[in-house]
Amino acid sequence: MEQTEVMKPETLDDLIQVLHQIFESDCINVEEVQNIMESYESNPQDWMKYSKFDKYRYTRNLVDAGNGKFNLMILCWGEGHGSSIHDHTNSHCFMKLLQGQLKETLFEWPDGKCRGDMVQRSQRVLQENKVAYINDSLGLHRVENVSHTECAVSLHLYSPPFQSCQTFDQRTGHRNTVKMTFWSKFGERTPFENSVSQENN
Ligand SMILES: [Fe+2]
Repeated sequence: MEQTEVMKPETLDDLIQVLHQIFESDCINVEEVQNIMESYESNPQDWMKYSKFDKYRYTRNLVDAGNGKFNLMILCWGEGHGSSIHDHTNSHCFMKLLQGQLKETLFEWPDGKCRGDMVQRSQRVLQENKVAYINDSLGLHRVENVSHTECAVSLHLYSPPFQSCQTFDQRTGHRNTVKMTFWSKFGERTPFENSVSQENN
């Protein structure tokens, strides 16, 4: 058995296993996580049971709680669905496209002094199987499925896990703290009273 290289994960379960190994360590190599997530080739059969759409908003569906070290979730974006501009609560955020495309717009943190439009830094379209990375030191972002005909599905890893983040008004930079909830956990719909939310990130 070769021990020198991490094997390419053939299934989502394989990927989860490798992620558990990587995140046992407290010191995370961003590039390593990005590479391993990218090397998994999306197969809808692996993740169909977590793929749950809502007519009005994108949904967050918990796949694995990462032994307390990370949360792995699948976000399902209907046509035209998008997030607000948000931060990542001092966590690592990895985002892999499982199906479709998502537009990511990066913004600078508002400096709190001058009011007015937030400063947009860059924009890109993420393609299937690609992995994007962001943390608070890199800025803020908004994620959108701009397609009017195709839905999108993405796999997100957050480490350490977090339950709330800040959202920002693009016109004023004004911020709000919002609590995030799951539409489903481990393939099961979350009871309604717990799922009313202003989902973000
Ligand atoms: Fe995000």
